[in-house]
Amino acid sequence: MAKYLAGPGGVAQGELTVPGDKSISHRSLMLGGIAEGVTDITGFLAGEDCLSTLRALQAMGVRIERPEEQHVIVHGVGRHGLKAANKPLDMGNAGTAMRLSMGLLAPQSFDSTLVGDESLMSRPMERAAVPLRLMGANITTQNGRPPVEIHGSRLKGIDYELPVASAQVKSAVILAGLQATGQTRVTEPAPTRDHTERMLRAFGVEISTRGPTVTIEGGQTLRGARIQVPADFSSAAFFMVAGCLAAEKPLLLRNVGMNPTRTGLLQLLLQMGADIKVHPHEGIEQGEPIADLEIRKSRLKGITVAEDLVPLSIDEFPVFFVAAACAEGETLVTGAEELRVKETDRLAAMAEGLTQLGVENRLRPDGLWIRGGDGFKGGTVDSHGDHRIAMSFAVASLRAKGEIEIIDVANVATSFPGFVELSRSVGLHIQTV
Ligand code: S3P
Repeated sequence: MAKYLAGPGGVAQGELTVPGDKSISHRSLMLGGIAEGVTDITGFLAGEDCLSTLRALQAMGVRIERPEEQHVIVHGVGRHGLKAANKPLDMGNAGTAMRLSMGLLAPQSFDSTLVGDESLMSRPMERAAVPLRLMGANITTQNGRPPVEIHGSRLKGIDYELPVASAQVKSAVILAGLQATGQTRVTEPAPTRDHTERMLRAFGVEISTRGPTVTIEGGQTLRGARIQVPADFSSAAFFMVAGCLAAEKPLLLRNVGMNPTRTGLLQLLLQMGADIKVHPHEGIEQGEPIADLEIRKSRLKGITVAEDLVPLSIDEFPVFFVAAACAEGETLVTGAEELRVKETDRLAAMAEGLTQLGVENRLRPDGLWIRGGDGFKGGTVDSHGDHRIAMSFAVASLRAKGEIEIIDVANVATSFPGFVELSRSVGLHIQTV
């Protein structure tokens, strides 16, 4: 099993561009697949998660060229052009691929089966199946989990209030609504990432957002688009925290996607006293704002996280907890029970790893309390196969007194190919063994 040996010490300074945004890369493939004409995607994330989506579309008859790793050309087959795959579609570790595909495939004229790796096979899928069934979909799960069996059906629009703040479920309903008769309205309990809505507009679809409600008319045609994928804020997050801990000279992160539904961690770090400057680019790429981020080593203070910032920083909590462990005083996160159903139970996995490294913390059903201060002692932590847990503890090594051994790290390739090389290029001490 692959593992990292990280630190102790090192710096995080200089300049880098992290790989393309995972959420946007998934969506560009799916929308490109059902568009009329060609979609040209640059800055594509060549991570295992997005490659699962790419292979699924190929299995359903979409021709996809990849002249370069990060340049993908999708020959759209139109909304009625997908064909049944001849075996189950394997979504690997990717929750986004599976839940969005449920919305994409429920209204097709053929049946599909969706499976994934051990982690994905244990994640909740009813949250997406429930609203789709209200639209007329015929979907079954096994005790709420994959395999997901979809019998393609005609769908009708609905007016649905999401019980959980989930961009994946919202997107599944929007994708189904696009292919349903009549109007579909989805109302979310708190703002979540809106890449689906923004990208649909780039594909020429009319979709309106009023307050918490998104409205879309079924039956609209998508026109192939040019998509320039920004660098992933969630991958930049590791280096934002690394910079706060160890940028003796400035650390510059280039072309970072700054969609306001994604940048909660920036607000949290600024509240903790981080020295981060945002240099916005002029103009935006297909509705997605972009900036360069300049980070300097900072004295961080513990905070109590406002619950309305939780969905806006949902994937960044593992590395936020590392920042909290290095901050002066106490940090408290509540209202974050969603972290328990990610690639692993991220509250439990982070609490376990922090304890291993000598950081006092208390696990709550919906969050974590941490007493910060001294950084970390050396030791062994288990990422439980979760990419973001593995990378977070690699960042922790910047403030560790001994080496940190991080086990089960192969899944870093799902979201951040080249993480080790890029980290080393700015001064972190990490090696894969
Ligand atoms: C994602 C939505 C979030 C996030 C995930 C990507 C997306 O999941 O955690 O990494 O691309 O829509 P939820 O919808 O489950 O909150």
